[in-house]
Parts: sequence; structure tokens; C-alpha cells
Amino acid sequence: MVLGRLLLGVVLCAVVASDGDVRPRFSIYETVELIKFDGYQPETHHVTTPDGYILEMHRIPYGRYANNTSEDRPVVFVMHGLMGASQGFILLGPEYSFVYNLADAGFDVWMGNARGNKNSRFHVSLDPDDEEEKFQFFDFSFEEIGMYDVPAMIDYILQYTRRDKIHYIGASQGGTVFLVMASMLPEYNEKLISVHLLAAVGYQNNFPGAQLRRAALMTDIIYSQALRNGIVELFPPNSVEMVPGITPSRELSNARCVGSVEYSYMCELFGVRSLMRNNPDDQAGAALKQIAHYGQNIRDRQFRRYHHGRQANQAAYNETSPPLYDLSLITAPVTMHYSLSDDLLDERDALAMVADMRNAKARKVARDSFLHTDYVEALDAKELVTDYVIEEIIKADLAARPVEGTIATAAPVIDNSTQVTGAASTTVLNVYLVVLSLYVMIK
Ligand SMILES: *[C@@H]1O[C@H](CO)[C@@H](O)[C@H](O)[C@H]1NC(C)=O
Ligand SMILES: *[C@@H]1O[C@H](CO)[C@@H](O)[C@H](O)[C@H]1NC(C)=O
Ligand SMILES: *[C@@H]1O[C@H](CO)[C@@H](O)[C@H](O)[C@H]1NC(C)=O
Repeated sequence: MVLGRLLLGVVLCAVVASDGDVRPRFSIYETVELIKFDGYQPETHHVTTPDGYILEMHRIPYGRYANNTSEDRPVVFVMHGLMGASQGFILLGPEYSFVYNLADAGFDVWMGNARGNKNSRFHVSLDPDDEEEKFQFFDFSFEEIGMYDVPAMIDYILQYTRRDKIHYIGASQGGTVFLVMASMLPEYNEKLISVHLLAAVGYQNNFPGAQLRRAALMTDIIYSQALRNGIVELFPPNSVEMVPGITPSRELSNARCVGSVEYSYMCELFGVRSLMRNNPDDQAGAALKQIAHYGQNIRDRQFRRYHHGRQANQAAYNETSPPLYDLSLITAPVTMHYSLSDDLLDERDALAMVADMRNAKARKVARDSFLHTDYVEALDAKELVTDYVIEEIIKADLAARPVEGTIATAAPVIDNSTQVTGAASTTVLNVYLVVLSLYVMIK
């Protein structure tokens, strides 16, 4: 999910619709149109958080032909990863997309969008495009998404569907924000029948990338430099014109990269050429502070709250160090899906999180080369992960609400032919460092 937006173009070009046509391109603002194009009946819902962010949810209430509308069907909330959006779950078309598979299994599927991404870049009073207010608008990390956005969206769904409990699925940061919510607001454990985390980034004791771990040492410096330069958001709308003098469009980034020694050094180091291949306006966007917070956790080998500095920590937390997120408070039944080739989550950290939660189990994806982003980008994710998730949700749902009706299972389609190629192993932290380094050098 992390690279979902970056790879949008690649994926869209690679995927061929069932009738043989290449699927047309839909912008990040046209997710509902894309869902309709694919033959489903989407709904848009808006939720306002207690701190004023207006979030957009996309619901796919029924399967493709809307012929499975049982009142008893499981209700599932799906949360995207860092710099992602709901659209990331549907890019592979009806047959292979994670969320379409869930809808076709007869689930009522709700997709969240975190504050600050292009679908949820709204606030009751703050203007994200205002030169002053943007600092306040984007002053959030994954903690606020976990403590405000996800609870608000879950409560909305519970109320709208008149359920007591739903199922939660989170990919990457969508897992991080669950861990934050369920440890900081443990009462939310009671609202979840089951939880499936796909490569949830939490514990960072064994962060796989040595180079990125070194780069993370600079995270606070980079972030404060960025703030001084007025940069609070990654890939804002129209970011082609974002900063005078640098336009991170493909041509100009490449020009920067090849144009001078210092740039080309950075570009080589972080692989900026491949990262900048796509139009920045295709990226869902995020607050820089989200990435800064991950950078701190990688640097400190801790999964803990934002580090403001010792004095400010004292004011914020009544401690000079940021408190840890206490996973032992998480009681919801969690399945932690992980894979051996994940460049953002080491097996040992996945297993340690499972050990620390009260009611969690681990499931290793049965393909060792499975990447962090493959849960939503690989064509074999359906047989390796999604079909299992569907089965488990059906079982858990029936156990939670024993009723007579049965729930649809999609006929298993086994395809072991191709995967989407081009899923780069670079990470979003790369993007952060590259983009900021470039800006800082330009200034
Ligand atoms: C729904 O309709 C489609 C097309 O008519 C059919 O292929 C599919 O099996 C139906 N699904 C269910 C659950 O009835
Ligand atoms: C802050 O921490 C100290 C020492 O742990 C404790 O005695 C005090 O009650 C705390 N203050 C607040 C406001 O929680
Ligand atoms: C949904 O599909 C399943 C499996 O085909 C079927 O058993 C169930 O009755 C369907 N429910 C409705 C309301 O159509």
C-alpha cells in the first residue's frame, strides 16, 4: 500500500479489463467513477472528526451484480496505508482487487480515507491551502489518524448499519493506526469482531532497511528544515507548481537528477528517478509528520508516540520520553499477516507484536517473495491472502451473530500465472528524504 500511489500508473497500464480493454485512468478524485465503471454501486459518506477534519469514505455495499443483499452480511471497514487512499484497493479490477473480492463475497465494504489525503483534505475551519493554516491542518501523524479518524469512521459505520460490531482490515499504516487506536482507546476493541492487519507497521526493532535506518537518523533535522521552508505535505494537489524552482514532475526531477553532482548523488542514493516516474498529482498525499513519526520510530527502535523533544514531551506526556503504545491492551482478535520479503516489516517484529497482544495470531504469506505492497498489488494476493481473510471473516461473523442465513463465499478463482511487476522495493521514507533533500538544497 505504501507505494500504491507511486505505482498507480504502472498498475493501471498493466491491468487489462475482463473484456480485454485497458482500463482507463481515473484520478484519485474519481474513485467513485472507477467503482461504477467496474460495475459496482458505490456510495460516498462524509464523517467529521472531533477535531474538525472532514473525511470521505467510499462504500461498496454489494457485490458486482448487487444480487447478494442479505441483511446479515458482514460489515467490513478497510483502511489504506501511508500516502494511500481508498482507490488503492481497487486498482486491479473486479477479479483481483482486494476490496472487490470482499464485496463479491457478500460483504458490506467501507473504505476509509485518512485526514490529509486528497479525498479527505477538508476541515471545518482550517484551509489546507492557506499559507498560515496549513501548518495547523497538517500537524498530525499516524497517531491522530488512529485516535480520531478511525474511531470516527467506525462509529459512523456502526450507527449507519445499526450494528454493534464490525470487522477491521488495515494495510500497512492502516495497521499502524489500528494498533494506536486499540491501545490508546481500548474500548474500541469491543467494537470489532475480527481484525486483519496486512503488514502492519508497528514495532521497529528489526527494521529491514539498513540504509533507511541510517537515513532515519536525520528525520528530525529534515522535518524541522521542511517546516522552516513551509513544507508540511507530501504531494499536495497541483504539486507540480508547489515550490517555485522545483517541480517534481518527471521531466524536471530527472533534469535535477542528472543536472548537477549534488542532486545526482541524492538521486542515486534514494532512487529518485524511479520514484518520480509518475505524476505527483496521482499521489494521494500525506502529512510530512506522519513520515517523520515513522522515521523516529525506526531511529529509536520503538513503537511510541511522537517525540517532540524532552521539554515538549514533558508538557505533552508528563514524561521526557514519549510513551510506548501498549499493545498488551489490545484484546480484539487480530490476525497479523506478514511476509518474508517485506521491506518495512521484519518477521521478528510481526511475531513480537502478536506475542504482546492478548488475542492475536500470525499468518505468514505462503510466498517468500511477497512484498509489502503485494497485498493490494499482486494478482496472487487473492489466493494467498484475500480468500483466507474472507473465510475467516465469514466464520467470525457467524460465531459473533449466530443466525440461520448463510453468507456468500466467492467461488475460488485460482490464478498462479502472473503478478504485477514493477512493485519497487523502495519505501515511502525514501520519497520523504528525497523530496525534502531536494527542496532543502534548492532553497
Ligand atoms: C449474481 O449475478 C451474477 C450475474 O448474473 C452471477 O454470475 C452471480 O453468480 C450472482 N451471484 C449470486 C451470489 O447470486
Ligand atoms: C506527572 O508525573 C508525576 C510523576 O510520575 C506524577 O506524580 C504526577 O501526578 C503527574 N502529573 C500529572 C498531571 O499527571
Ligand atoms: C448470497 O450468496 C450466497 C451464496 O451464493 C447465497 O447462499 C445467499 O443466499 C445469497 N444471499 C442473498 C440475499 O442473495
